[in-house]
Amino acid sequence: MNTIKIKHIGVFTSGGDSPGMNAALYAIAKSAEAKSIKTSGFRKGYEGLIDGDLISLKSHELQKSLHQGGTVLKTARSKRFLELEGRKKALQTIKANNVDALIAIGGDGTFKGLLAFSEICDIPFIGIPGTIDNDISGTDYTLGFDSAVNTAIENIDKIRDTAESHNRVFIVEVMGRDSGYIAIHSGLMVGADAILIPESGKDFIYLLDKVKNYDSEDAFLVVVSEGDEIGAELVSSKIKEVNPDVDLRITKLGHVQRGGNPSALDRMLGIRLGVASVNVLSEGKKNAMVGILNNQLHLTPFKEVVKQHQVNTELYELLELFGK
Ligand code: F6P
Repeated sequence: MNTIKIKHIGVFTSGGDSPGMNAALYAIAKSAEAKSIKTSGFRKGYEGLIDGDLISLKSHELQKSLHQGGTVLKTARSKRFLELEGRKKALQTIKANNVDALIAIGGDGTFKGLLAFSEICDIPFIGIPGTIDNDISGTDYTLGFDSAVNTAIENIDKIRDTAESHNRVFIVEVMGRDSGYIAIHSGLMVGADAILIPESGKDFIYLLDKVKNYDSEDAFLVVVSEGDEIGAELVSSKIKEVNPDVDLRITKLGHVQRGGNPSALDRMLGIRLGVASVNVLSEGKKNAMVGILNNQLHLTPFKEVVKQHQVNTELYELLELFGK
């Protein structure tokens, strides 16, 4: 095996925070310590790299936040890093602090940033997929997705209680940007009457067909992804067009889905991917994302990591069965 001696790893979290990021940070520090590698954390994502804002990471300290949502390193969507000037400043920080490898936890935008940085900085980079949206190829699940779905379910279950009591139609909007994964998973698990996702054009037609015959003798739950081209407000007005008597409310779950303690699955994913990221760096790998495919660790070059827009056939069939 081609091993290289790394002495100082820099780590940062970038883009939207997601539950499980702290578990990954803990695992990175723990695994680096076992290899006698120093670990520093850059605060606020790429902003910390540009400003030289870094702190020393110790596993015994990070252990205490393993169970917490958010990221102890803070995060940001850095505009400055999009500019070459910002990346040059980041390079100065790397050199000044003798950082000889970088691990970034974030979404596809974070990895694109690393690709751009690799044009001027030749130390190895490894990415860990961290976003609630689950929209990245090269891994079955991204860090935070499972927790976000659990939060969505918990809240939609509560909405059902009040919806059933009033025989109301509820449209619940969930996050996911342009990916329908949170909507599909949470919608199926709360027994939604309709699930609307950006990836499907047919779901709206099913919804209108179904709601036409809705007799207000029960609740009627619609879960809609924020990225759906129709959107919660338009869905609401279309429902009222086909069935003017409905008593309808809209709830947008919003950022509540990003917070909260990570689920068991996300803690485990954070630990596995955190350790894997240090291992692959030590093996001489670079410019790739660690993920889990079919329960096996998998390395995907950044160039092949794309935003996942496809919903597999089996999930579509579930949507049709439960949404019609
Ligand atoms: O990418 C994660 C995510 O939570 C999306 O689901 C959502 O569209 C977006 O971030 C919200 O971003 P912000 O926190 O910047 O408003």
